[in-house]
Amino acid sequence: EIFKNSAEASIIVAQEIAQLIKSKQKENKSCILGLATGSSPIKVYNELVRMHKEEGLSFKNVITFNLDEYYPMPKESNQSYHYFMHQHLFNHIDINPDNINIPDGTISIQQLNQYCLDYEKKITNAGGLDFQLLGIGRTGHVGFNEPGSHINSGTRIITLDHITKVDASGDFNGIGNVPKRAITMGVSTILRSKRIVLMAWGQNKADIIKRTIQGDVSSEIPATFLQNHTNTTFILDQSASSEL
Ligand code: GLP
Repeated sequence: EIFKNSAEASIIVAQEIAQLIKSKQKENKSCILGLATGSSPIKVYNELVRMHKEEGLSFKNVITFNLDEYYPMPKESNQSYHYFMHQHLFNHIDINPDNINIPDGTISIQQLNQYCLDYEKKITNAGGLDFQLLGIGRTGHVGFNEPGSHINSGTRIITLDHITKVDASGDFNGIGNVPKRAITMGVSTILRSKRIVLMAWGQNKADIIKRTIQGDVSSEIPATFLQNHTNTTFILDQSASSEL
């Protein structure tokens, strides 16, 4: 779906999320949301915060799982995804802090494998993701599933692609300071979500959007695996869709 601009598109996405939360509330059920970081979802979070403040949208029944976190990364660092999520969403809504799950960039390397298995199990035990919000990196990554990621991959530690580090270098004052690794949900974790919405804005995403939507399905561009998910929508602005 192509929108005039990201502001209009983000309101539509926020409305879908709000509807889902409310319909789960009516059934007395939890709403399990998979959330993303990066610049793409910021306007969606702004709109959800507005709906909470002005329309009384409650997040009491919401359980969230974030896609990824740099590794290693202290939670309090303003470069952490932990910080980002609190800054843009969690500090402004009525979610129970116990219901917030973000991969922990401070876990010791010895405990990491078990930690990733537990993160995966926690999603399953919560009933699986009802909705997964995604951005896309210029390498075709979703979460931090870089080229080479297997369709069956689960939550794990990965090595960041050079292009991803270039794109993150602005946040870290130079590429040399960008962490080399990250913890990410896997491709299979994402594909098990009942509903997926991927958002992309701007001309610099146009090439990867074309290859993701019109190219062959391949682990060279992990986002192409979404072609085989039966309930995925790509939400684009005009520039991001300009090469389709
Ligand atoms: C990071 C995140 C991804 C995100 C991507 C795109 O790599 N791990 O989840 O989709 O950046 O970021 P942006 O939305 O800023 O273009």
